[in-house]
Amino acid sequence: MKYLLTGGTGYIGSHTVVELLELGHEVVILDNLANSSVKVLERVEKICGKRPAFVEGNICNRDDLDKVFTAHQIEAVVHFAGLKAVGESNQIPLSYYHNNVSGSVTLFQAMSDHNVKKLVFSSSATVYGENNVSPLDESMPTSATNPYGQTKLMIENILVDLAKSDSDWSIINLRYFNPIGAHASGLIGENPNGIPNNLLPYVAQVAVGRLAELNVFGDDYDTPDGTGVRDYIHVVDLAQGHVKALEKIDAHNGCHAINLGTGNGTSVLQIVESFKRVSGRDIPFKIAPRRAGDIATVFAHADKAAKALNWQAKLDLNAMIEDTWRWQSNNPNGYE
Ligand code: WQD
Repeated sequence: MKYLLTGGTGYIGSHTVVELLELGHEVVILDNLANSSVKVLERVEKICGKRPAFVEGNICNRDDLDKVFTAHQIEAVVHFAGLKAVGESNQIPLSYYHNNVSGSVTLFQAMSDHNVKKLVFSSSATVYGENNVSPLDESMPTSATNPYGQTKLMIENILVDLAKSDSDWSIINLRYFNPIGAHASGLIGENPNGIPNNLLPYVAQVAVGRLAELNVFGDDYDTPDGTGVRDYIHVVDLAQGHVKALEKIDAHNGCHAINLGTGNGTSVLQIVESFKRVSGRDIPFKIAPRRAGDIATVFAHADKAAKALNWQAKLDLNAMIEDTWRWQSNNPNGYE
């Protein structure tokens, strides 16, 4: 099969490219490189001996999209492209609504006009909002507390309406929990611009000496050690979940939301201790005030993915941390 991956040079996109190429599929990447490096392409080729087709472009630009769909016989799309920093979205909401929502609508219009109606969308557990109690399942009410989360929720709802309007569409909204880790080769991994917002890249940069100290955002939550609990999932497991979702949309129609998580929760301090053990490095930290918008505990109900996709996460926390450390220690400055 030939797939278009928007945002395919990003962290999750690049790991999904590797899985698809290794299965013998063809991949076309459309990416504006706003939050990723073109060097990913040579790393992907090193890993699997094949290079995906790459088009530098923007989902907001209809001409860029038409060029891709005209030049390639695309059979399905995996839509990763979008801005994804919760804090930043509060400061520049219009950029998030334009890039994420308007850009997605432009993509979906181009897909419809080129009669490509199979789609896997990169959604997020953030759509469960703050009022649901974990384990979070797909039947729960959704809400959003920041513009980033609003954009994910809006796009999910747009896709529900699109599938209702035209039964030829086959769509899966994948709700990611907390993707971490890296390909075992250490050649690709998470490479955030500037100071990381997320826990694992921040801890990894402390361990490798790029950052001095971790701020633990609160130790007074109602959790076993007082720090935030999250459902960390290995990015390679997540990528394989996308492969299964592509198989599913090839056989079924409609629009379905599916969690990609492990069903297990791990606290911030447990992550820090694991990282110290695996890396042999100290991870200096201090307890800081809670971060606005954070909740105590988030983890997935993972049954629907097991039933609907015949997929479940296999890699444990130790593998997630080991693979993160191999990537970061081999690439202290990321792809630069
Ligand atoms: C994890 C835990 C923090 C940084 C976000 C988005 C979500 C998805 C994943 C895109 C929390 C604590 C963090 C730090 C800390 N992104 N923490 N010090 O907030 O669960 O999810 O990223 O789809 O949509 O909401 O992930 O890694 O930021 O935080 O103590 O420097 O680590 O309080 O308990 P989060 P995170």
